Amino acid sequence: MAKALSETLADDVRAALTAVLGDAARGADPLIRPSDHADFQANGVLPLAKALKGNPRELATRVAAALVPSAGGADADPPPAATSGVIAAVEVAGPGFLNLTLTDTALGAQAAERLGDPRLGVPAAGVGQTTVIDYSQPNIAKEMHVGHLRSTVIGDALVRLLEFNGHTVVRQNHLGDWGTQFGMLIQYLVEHPDARLADVDHSGEAAISWLTALYRDARAEFESDTAFADRARKRVVTLQGGDRESLAVWQKMVAESKRYFEDVYARLDVRLIDADAVGESFYNPYLAEIAADLERRGIAVWSNGALCVFFDDIAGPDGEPVPLIVRKSDGGFGYAATDLAAIRYRVNTLKADQILYVVDSRQALHFRMVFEAARRAGYLPEHVEAVHVQFGSVLGPDGKPFKTRAGQTVRLIELLDSAVDHAVATVEEKNPQLDASQARAETRLVGIGAVKYADLSTSRTKDYIFDLDRMVSLHGNTSVYLQYAHARTHSILRKLPAGTTPRVHAGVPLEPAERKLALHLDDFGASLATVVENFEPHRLASYLYALAQTFSDFYDNCPVVKAPTEPVRENRAALVRLTGDTLRLGLELLGISAPEQL
Ligand code: ARG
Repeated sequence: MAKALSETLADDVRAALTAVLGDAARGADPLIRPSDHADFQANGVLPLAKALKGNPRELATRVAAALVPSAGGADADPPPAATSGVIAAVEVAGPGFLNLTLTDTALGAQAAERLGDPRLGVPAAGVGQTTVIDYSQPNIAKEMHVGHLRSTVIGDALVRLLEFNGHTVVRQNHLGDWGTQFGMLIQYLVEHPDARLADVDHSGEAAISWLTALYRDARAEFESDTAFADRARKRVVTLQGGDRESLAVWQKMVAESKRYFEDVYARLDVRLIDADAVGESFYNPYLAEIAADLERRGIAVWSNGALCVFFDDIAGPDGEPVPLIVRKSDGGFGYAATDLAAIRYRVNTLKADQILYVVDSRQALHFRMVFEAARRAGYLPEHVEAVHVQFGSVLGPDGKPFKTRAGQTVRLIELLDSAVDHAVATVEEKNPQLDASQARAETRLVGIGAVKYADLSTSRTKDYIFDLDRMVSLHGNTSVYLQYAHARTHSILRKLPAGTTPRVHAGVPLEPAERKLALHLDDFGASLATVVENFEPHRLASYLYALAQTFSDFYDNCPVVKAPTEPVRENRAALVRLTGDTLRLGLELLGISAPEQL
């Protein structure tokens, strides 16, 4: 695995600090940063000199001499530290910064090592860790909304990123498949056999339009006919008691909904499969036991007829404590009880070291209370981390929550179809020669990629405006821009004269634009590490966008096919290939495909 040059430099500067200062340098951070005057600068001397009440410039000069002997003259004091040899030149600048320039050989060797590895030299730091991730979570018998789109897209990217990082990832699609509304729906179907759906093959779209109509009709009857409403409430009890007829109707609705979800997942190209669906109903058998356990141990208490957990630091706007309700006053169990049971299952059975919940920010209080209650009960032991990976809302062009003009939730399938339609114009404009069937396949990748990337490239906790025209634009921070940059690397490589192989000739002098590109490529692993640490895919998006821009600058300044000599040409071709591979892998980790030709 390739260690990033910035890390090697940090080690070198640390060694030099120790050579000069001995124990006084222990634990000091060399503060390696990118620089405009050299490849990097080390800013760590300044705070250290201050702490030791020394002269920073003088200390910097001695550290420089320990890094590169020639920097301090012939009688360098102290003797050079044992360093890696990647530094070509050091310069003391300003009040005590060190400007560091790397050798061309070190830059080349690093690129060669990454190019020769399918993982591009990125270590798998998370091996041995099990992460359970709860995402997508649509509700049975209902249309998915844009919030589910966000959870699905962010969750899928995190699954890919964590798996690449070596984690064992257990996907959990916590379907909303249980609750009082099913009494109403089942009762309606029992009383209106003609409203049932024939068992013929049909699409996910047909399934969801049947369910939507069913929901509308059942709701209307529930609201207008109190006798029906009573029968619907009784039906919940029969369903929960395991009645065969009720269960059969319920299963039919679950199956139809899944048909629709699978359709959406297939269009989105996400990795959720049926085996990942562990809905709320799965936890039903454990709820009574959880409630009894919490009550017996005094963690939950009865208040206004409901079994509640209270928290010292959680109160509503009126100052009254806000409880987590484990059992409702009508005896039923709700959303919270299910989440407590799910934690126990994920810890004890799935053996999670880490549990992630990709759910919108409005549920922040719910998860805070659930995690805290689970900690008190010991369901969530100290060594297991639970994280609410929250996200903001999708807004319409008017800056309000995204709805159709008629104020309804936007149908996801239509939304994705129109993204693909929008991509047609972009693809045609750029390459009218692409043949029709290929163009269609590519447009799908471009359209779907654009929707995912727009979501993933904004900091997840922020809201964003759903704007298809901007999403499929060739300019700016879009997946389309990145996909074209990737395709361009392939088109350059196709044009290389026969006999030219992309390969590194370590030591070939590098121009500034080549250095910049090589350094950015070298930073891929370090960027991924921060992405995984904070569950922030948008940082990978920023990295890739900067890479595409750096590449474009390189290509404007450094001819590849028409390079002056063969080693320079092969060397540049190697950087082109590594850029293409890095863009492809980076996009793939976000769940976005990068075709070789567009
Ligand atoms: N189904 C819920 C919704 O649509 C989200 C479920 C989130 N996951 C969980 N374990 N509570 O809002």
